[in-house]
Amino acid sequence: MNAKTRNVIIDCDPGIDDSLAILLALNSPELNVVGITTVCGNVPTHLGAANALKILALADRLDIPVVMGANRPLVVDYTSAQDTHGDDGLGNSNIPAVTNVHAGQNAVAFIEDTLTEDPTTSILALGPLTNIAEVLQRDPRLFEQVDRFVLMGGSYKSHGNCSPVAEYNFWCDPDAAKIVFDLMPVDIAMVGLDVTRKIVLTPSLLEYMHDTDPEMGAFIKKITRFYFDFHWQYERVIGCVINDPLAVAYMIDPTILQGFDAFTTVATNGVARGQSIVDDHDFWHEPENSHILTTVDTKAFWRLFLQRVTHATEPDLTTTLQQLLVEGA
Ligand code: RIB
Ligand code: CA
Repeated sequence: MNAKTRNVIIDCDPGIDDSLAILLALNSPELNVVGITTVCGNVPTHLGAANALKILALADRLDIPVVMGANRPLVVDYTSAQDTHGDDGLGNSNIPAVTNVHAGQNAVAFIEDTLTEDPTTSILALGPLTNIAEVLQRDPRLFEQVDRFVLMGGSYKSHGNCSPVAEYNFWCDPDAAKIVFDLMPVDIAMVGLDVTRKIVLTPSLLEYMHDTDPEMGAFIKKITRFYFDFHWQYERVIGCVINDPLAVAYMIDPTILQGFDAFTTVATNGVARGQSIVDDHDFWHEPENSHILTTVDTKAFWRLFLQRVTHATEPDLTTTLQQLLVEGA
């Protein structure tokens, strides 16, 4: 492992964009994925674990442990996002299950044991924050030396995606989200909808992926078809927003996103359930607990993703990106 490699746990709810995020992490030498924990979110946690194993099998990395976590949010009832990700969580692609490797059963214990063994392990949280909140409630000191804590979730100024004000990961378990912002002893990098909405996988990008890596491109086409249809039907977007890979990209190259520090909390009930409330004018004079990402270098993101996941190479990557990315789109 080279000096620059960062050990990381990916806590997620695969999920189509989670799956793309895992593929980016696995193909990036800056990150050493030491485990994948799953949480009830896009799909129930057991389906998320089964899908994580499918992604690891595709990448020939079944050496990485997958461990199931929370089956339900801390307080509210569980609401999946299978309307967006398909009943199977991978766009109803019916990819064969991995049968020779099984997921573990206790994500909380896995996270605790991993942080005890290597307290500097980084965390990528790409789903509802139930598992992370449970570990924090048991012993927040475990996170004191975490090198980076990066989450996909919340929204500063952009509208919500499961209410006018709430992003799904925070809405699905608002109590867990609040606990994370209340108790996390290290800075929380919040990669929210303000920046992830700029990352749109378009048909042209998909074709380019297929050209540069037919096998991986065919897989990504297979799991995103359902997602494309959803985005056109409900948001009149041609393509699909892939949220989670941007959080991974930020952990790999922090220059891809820019933002500011602030105190943030999360509304846990009522009409604003799941809303991330960013005190950007220091009204409450609370200590800053988060770094809110607000601008993204989309070309830099796509360059990283296309190079790492579907092995695009120069010189055609630069010329192709100039054609595929319409500025300000
Ligand atoms: O709101 C988008 C987030 O919710 C993404 O992480 C997606 O995978 C779902 O978990
Ligand atoms: Ca997710």
